[in-house]
Amino acid sequence: MDNIRQVFSPSFLLRLRNIIRLMQILICLLFLVGSSTASPPDHSGKMEMNGIAWKAFKSFPEKWELVTIRFRKDTGEMRITYANAIAMKALKEGKTDYPEGAVFAKTGIHTGVDPQFISSVVPKGIRRYQIMVKNRKSYASTNGWGYALFDPEGKTFNEDPKMTQDACYACHTIVENRGDVFSQHFSTSRYVKPIFTQEEKKISSLNYLTRAVSTLPPQIKSQIPGWATEVRWVEIEILRKHVFQGTLDEMKPLLEHESLQSKLPAVFASKDEKKFVLVYPGKSDDCMDTTQMTSISTDQNGNPVVDKFCLYD
Ligand code: HEC
Repeated sequence: MDNIRQVFSPSFLLRLRNIIRLMQILICLLFLVGSSTASPPDHSGKMEMNGIAWKAFKSFPEKWELVTIRFRKDTGEMRITYANAIAMKALKEGKTDYPEGAVFAKTGIHTGVDPQFISSVVPKGIRRYQIMVKNRKSYASTNGWGYALFDPEGKTFNEDPKMTQDACYACHTIVENRGDVFSQHFSTSRYVKPIFTQEEKKISSLNYLTRAVSTLPPQIKSQIPGWATEVRWVEIEILRKHVFQGTLDEMKPLLEHESLQSKLPAVFASKDEKKFVLVYPGKSDDCMDTTQMTSISTDQNGNPVVDKFCLYD
């Protein structure tokens, strides 16, 4: 009886309460640690993105008409764009207000030299597929275009689909005057001049500011070479707000061009300044008489990756 009384004595109850409280705190801490180290959700491997199913469009290269071919000189990537009948009709008529159901699809293709004739470059394999679908109701926040990105197997990459779509839109809005569509129709049966007017040339030039290196955030400042006191800085609000890995990759040749002209490092950074790419020219014996370019770009984990290359031609 005495024992029982002892067990339920006020001092014991107080101790018990403290132990319970301590355990509660420990559980909370464990939960916090657990949730902060949990890996971000994996969005890869799906065959649908932002309501656009790969299955519905996968035969576009066989079924649709060719719009144009573009080539990225720095990475040797060939891009082939196709349009469905609705999109093609509007494009050929010069309309920029695309009707519902208009779809563009683009393939990115690796290239390499033909080993038996090395001055000739040939397609080597698919890198990715990109699709944009007009549906004003479903995609009101991205000016009526839904965007999807698939790997060579028609599966999604890891990045968040909504965030990626915002980044696709942020860049495509550069050509708002063309209805957010970059491509102009090029007929392989006769030469058609792309319709880039003087006015368009002005719109398409990116806005750069000259910014003192001392005003840059530390993670970017630490990557700038010692000789530079200023950089050319891209200031396009919407583009900086929505950045995915592909944005950094697309910005590289533009920055290269700017840094060669200004002889300063050229920088593009996301609004939160965690993702960035910068390019600067320099001299190196490795490149003989040509200019050596250095590009530094953050990877998926935000770590800077350095790439040095020589400029030929
Ligand atoms: C930083 C700029 C940029 C970003 C980001 C971007 N694009 Fe594009 N996109 C282009 C350019 C430039 C073209 C013209 C073709 C070329 O040069 O590759 C293009 C062309 C296209 C086309 C062919 C129709 C057209 O507009 O010419 C599709 C489809 C497309 N992109 C889809 C996407 C999707 C999907 C995403 C996001 C996953 C995306 N794009 C992100 C710049 C961008």
